[in-house]
Amino acid sequence: MTPQQLSTLRPTRAGCAFILATAFASAALAQTAPAPPPNLAKQAIENRKAVFTLIGNNFKPIGEILRGNSTYESVEVGKYVTRVSFLTGFLVEAFPEVSKSGDTQARSEIWSNRADFDKRVKDFGDHASALSQVVAQGGGNSDAFKTAARAVAQDCKGCHDNYRSK
Ligand code: HEC
Repeated sequence: MTPQQLSTLRPTRAGCAFILATAFASAALAQTAPAPPPNLAKQAIENRKAVFTLIGNNFKPIGEILRGNSTYESVEVGKYVTRVSFLTGFLVEAFPEVSKSGDTQARSEIWSNRADFDKRVKDFGDHASALSQVVAQGGGNSDAFKTAARAVAQDCKGCHDNYRSK
């Protein structure tokens, strides 16, 4: 083999560099291939529905007592109202702009009428906390309990009538 023939067999310097660069690039891609972006809207919607489901399940027995369909049992009532009060705290962050559309019954008025909606969320939290305090005082199925529980029930209805689609 002549030196000329040999040199045509040898890969060129540029060729080597290209092969190396490609190998590195694909290794780097394989390592840092970006994870699909989290679907923030879907997450927010799922979270708030979960929170409302828990609020609903825990407030239901209180509604039954108000309607006279079940008796007041203080340990149970204490448990339910404490949970509802705690859960209202999640609602403050449960309606980010990004979660306007998707698999949701939240109406767009929440975002176009934000101040009113936020006030309802705040009132709901305040009323749930007041109810929990009345219950903690241990007066049982008193007028104070009924008044505080009805204020919370009104918050549910008022907000659903205005901001939740059927
Ligand atoms: C400040 C407004 C507001 C208040 C107060 C409120 N809700 Fe809701 N609720 C909503 C909205 C909006 C939705 C729709 C959420 C969605 O589909 O993304 C909803 C949905 C629900 C759901 C359905 C959840 C699901 O899985 O789709 C239940 C149950 C519920 N609420 C119960 C209650 C109860 C019980 C109360 C009172 C103790 C209450 N809510 C108070 C606004 C409110």
